[in-house]
Amino acid sequence: MLYNENLVWYNKTHSAIVDWEADWTISDEPAYLYLEDILHLLTDDRLETVLLSDIAWKGKHKSSLVKQDLRYRNADPYIPGIVAFNAPNPYNDKYRMIDGKHRMHKLVSENVKESEFYVLDFEKLRPLFVSKKEAVVKSYSNVAPSKIPSVSYAPMLEINPIDEDILEEIYKIIEPFISVLKDNPTKKVVPDWEKYVSKESLDEIYDKDVSKNLDKNLIRVLTRGRGGEPVESIEHGWTLSKLRFIDLAEIEWLVQSAFPKKRVQLSGDFYYPPTGFMGWHTNHDAPCERLYINYASADKKSFFRYFEGGQIVTDYDKIGMNARKFTCPGKPPYFWHCVGSECDRISFGFKLL
Ligand SMILES: [Fe+2]
Repeated sequence: MLYNENLVWYNKTHSAIVDWEADWTISDEPAYLYLEDILHLLTDDRLETVLLSDIAWKGKHKSSLVKQDLRYRNADPYIPGIVAFNAPNPYNDKYRMIDGKHRMHKLVSENVKESEFYVLDFEKLRPLFVSKKEAVVKSYSNVAPSKIPSVSYAPMLEINPIDEDILEEIYKIIEPFISVLKDNPTKKVVPDWEKYVSKESLDEIYDKDVSKNLDKNLIRVLTRGRGGEPVESIEHGWTLSKLRFIDLAEIEWLVQSAFPKKRVQLSGDFYYPPTGFMGWHTNHDAPCERLYINYASADKKSFFRYFEGGQIVTDYDKIGMNARKFTCPGKPPYFWHCVGSECDRISFGFKLL
């Protein structure tokens, strides 16, 4: 993840959502608290020494998944974090962490037992939470319409939204085809691939209507006819002849089982070779929630890159299976995103309708 050192620390939200670890919601709808809105509560008389084991924090029971990014490395564990009492939390702990996950992870890994925190009453914070829509509007409130804005960060992307066991099942289905795809004789090398997924590239098209990517270097795993049936084509004849038995229906069914309240529809199946990419676009012509599952042949050599809340964020794939869920709105601010790869990357996209 990119770290924007120009951002002040409070330009971010605490999200009350269902995340990759647990249910952090405080009502029926996802809700977001802007730290900027609670600055006035961070007074010295609210500083207290708190036992770390009394705090529920995002990553507490899966701390290996807390991203070891620059935010982590820059986290100063001696700047007090923020916790709240009277706060719903999935572990029924005395306190809920509002800010300071990366610091917390550092403290715990150094075997520290207690530390100083700003301790706030959640009942004072509750009215300050806003909906996702309000959060997006708020984060864009100072945006110049035709230039990439630089404002606060509001997380829209959900990482690891699907059970590891399901990803494992999907891996088993695609595994026999990985070497076949790598050997695809139609794959291309695009030496300057990075320019198509750069900040400059987004800057050029940010005020334009780019629902579908303008440039790409990828290969469809399987093409389909109008009725959804596989079709032969000269370009894809090779792919089809070797891959017609990849069980896309089974993959779709596995994803459907993970989202029983949604109608899952496979929307894309791509192989990205090294130097592969899909340029910046918004998908705003088909607004909906989307899930992407991908295999990557190497660690941190391919990525999903997106623009949100004033920042370009690069979310690297780990080796093996990855999953991401996000929503592409039909109206501005759109969800600009792109993909890049320096390894072999196989991706399946789904609409969650
Ligand atoms: Fe897309």
